[in-house]
Amino acid sequence: MARSLLEAAARARENAYAPYSEYPVGAALEVSDGSVFVGSNVENSSLGMTLCAERSAVAAAVAAGHRDFRRLALSVREGDPPAPCGACRQVLGEFAPSLSVLSEANGVSRKWVLDALLPEPFSLGADRSRRKSV
Ligand code: THU
Repeated sequence: MARSLLEAAARARENAYAPYSEYPVGAALEVSDGSVFVGSNVENSSLGMTLCAERSAVAAAVAAGHRDFRRLALSVREGDPPAPCGACRQVLGEFAPSLSVLSEANGVSRKWVLDALLPEPFSLGADRSRRKSV
């Protein structure tokens, strides 16, 4: 199961648009019904506009009506298996504060839970930021 989610992330990595960093990232987000939504990093010549793979996967899942995230897998080609950046931790935590995060690079994998990576997330308060209807 972890293997197939990591493979989905590796396939998404093949579609990354990362000509500036040359650091393609793939993400695969599994939701509560078992569906998987993928994302990749999408860079831009205005570098600050770059979208990370994790946030691209979150947008795909939410746009398809899923907010109940179960697990996230990340894939990069080389180096250490990365943990999500700070911005992505905050965005993932909006929906799944205890999300299970897997990451793999070149056959080496790591695993975390999101609340250990982001112990004090910013929040407007439970009744505003977690409400389901809007
Ligand atoms: N990147 C991600 O896709 N996810 C992260 O959590 C951190 C970094 C991307 C952004 C940029 O395209 C490249 O990796 C190098 O920073």
